[in-house]
Amino acid sequence: MSKKLVLAYSGGLDTSVALRWLADKGYEVIAYLADVGQAVNFDQLKKRALSAGASKVIVEDLKKEFALDFVFPSLKAGAVYESKYLLATALSRPIIAKGMVNVARKYNAKAVAHGCTGKGNDQVRFEVTINTLAPELKIIAPLREWDMCTREEEIRYAKKHKIDIDVTKKSPYSLDKNIWGISIECGVLEDPWKEPPEDAYKMTVAPQKAPNKPTYIEVEFKNGVPVKINGDIYEAVELIMKLNKLGGANGIGRTDLVENRLVGIKSREIYEAPAAWILYKAHKDLENLVLDRELLHFKEGLSLKYAELVYYGLYFTPLKKAIDAFVEDTQKHVTGIVRVKLLKGVASVAGRKSPYSLYKKEMATYDKGDEFDRSIAEGFIKVWGMPYRK
Ligand code: ARG
Repeated sequence: MSKKLVLAYSGGLDTSVALRWLADKGYEVIAYLADVGQAVNFDQLKKRALSAGASKVIVEDLKKEFALDFVFPSLKAGAVYESKYLLATALSRPIIAKGMVNVARKYNAKAVAHGCTGKGNDQVRFEVTINTLAPELKIIAPLREWDMCTREEEIRYAKKHKIDIDVTKKSPYSLDKNIWGISIECGVLEDPWKEPPEDAYKMTVAPQKAPNKPTYIEVEFKNGVPVKINGDIYEAVELIMKLNKLGGANGIGRTDLVENRLVGIKSREIYEAPAAWILYKAHKDLENLVLDRELLHFKEGLSLKYAELVYYGLYFTPLKKAIDAFVEDTQKHVTGIVRVKLLKGVASVAGRKSPYSLYKKEMATYDKGDEFDRSIAEGFIKVWGMPYRK
């Protein structure tokens, strides 16, 4: 009897070689290809998986669920890892792992496998999620087990086994893309002193080559969720794609980060996330307009924690769930329109309005119509500073 297994298959060299390696170990391999917006040729990858020895290939479109249940909650939480990473890759792992668990249950597979390396974050995210959702599943990580150490050895293996791999257009970088952004590492990027070459970027034009004239867009939010651009309603995935295009054309969303990995090492990665940065900035700005000071400041602390939980693979955990509930409560007035100016790599907020705005012109103004009672300021300051008076 053959042992059935579900492999998270990307179609790249690592997972294609892993597929064959598992098949050779006697597994019946179901290749699971989750579509989170990586924009690849799924038909071609399907053929590749079969040529590598898969018994079945399942392509599942997870984009909508990813946008609604993973990306938008993170946007509402204001999660950014180490100030520069909006977590595109990190957010995609739990949904892919969840998809693997569903497929394993449906086909009665007792094991799952992934093609992550033994020193990255993604192995942790996949495995913690799988252990949480389906502790009975055995997890195999071929890249931690086999003795191939370099890409060249894997290519040799692929050739030997006639796996249809496109080694000619091999990129010097390791890429991971979805609707929320792309993560790019390896090659020359491993030298943190070297400026990333232009060919490393995939979603954005160089800011200096972007138009000299600004593009203004109006993003409308309802309860913290973006719903319209320039007055037109968009479905979640379409909205994100549209902003990726507009932002990318204006060079928005590039970051370069030497980050702290979960496994204790520092690594250098660059990111492009045009839509994510536009939405992050717009959403945050709207919160500044409608949330009171104490809630706003308290929430900033939670944003940091939220980003850590996502980055650390602690996605389906009690703390993350509790923070989500808190965040959801904070979003009931995060409704309004933000006007964003896109210009040469910078997305800046040019204006904002909301029916729940806490901004009161008659309180803030230094012109006519001032209603702020300054006679009470003196007493307030005395009481406020009382503990510090000598
Ligand atoms: N450093 C990012 C993270 O841990 C991305 C990892 C994957 N990057 C890649 N280029 N394959 O979430």
